[in-house]
Amino acid sequence: MSEKELRVSKIKDGTVIDHISGGYALDVVKILGITGREKRVMTIAINVPSKRFKVKDIVKIEGRALNAREVNRIALVAPHASINIIRDYDVVEKLEVKLPKVIEAIINCVNPACISNSNEPAVAKFYVESEEPLLLKCHYCGYILEKADVLQQL
Ligand code: CTP
Ligand code: ZN
Repeated sequence: MSEKELRVSKIKDGTVIDHISGGYALDVVKILGITGREKRVMTIAINVPSKRFKVKDIVKIEGRALNAREVNRIALVAPHASINIIRDYDVVEKLEVKLPKVIEAIINCVNPACISNSNEPAVAKFYVESEEPLLLKCHYCGYILEKADVLQQL
């Protein structure tokens, strides 16, 4: 490693979300509801060089695990992210996020006239038409949501 490189510290216990699409780390942070005032050590790296994807973002959080809803939402904004669980400096678990073909109860339809936005008991449901660029088709009204529509709801 040359003097020109700065290596970001390893964490002791917690979660590293790696291979986030370049530019989306702050959206991931938003999904996690992190304000920065939690008294946890956190590192957010944006647009750093990556062998796999040219550039990537990384979010490291000490002492925090992720729940299934958070992982599902991360998959929407960063479909190639890997989630590493760290214990005593070792990666004890690594999982690649994956977008399911059908997305239920994670985000809402943006069509105000959609039945999922009425008082009817219709849980928002979408079919993944495309991962990149992200295109989600509403099960009820056929409206196509784009990534910007998803980011707005985080
Ligand atoms: N990491 C960390 N603290 C640790 C261990 C790992 O912050 N105590 C970070 C690494 O810097 C890396 C990620 O967690 O960003 C995954 O670690 P590792 O699996 O060791 O790295 P790679 O082999 O490069 O991962 P991949 O195969 O997913 O690219
Ligand atoms: Zn709809």
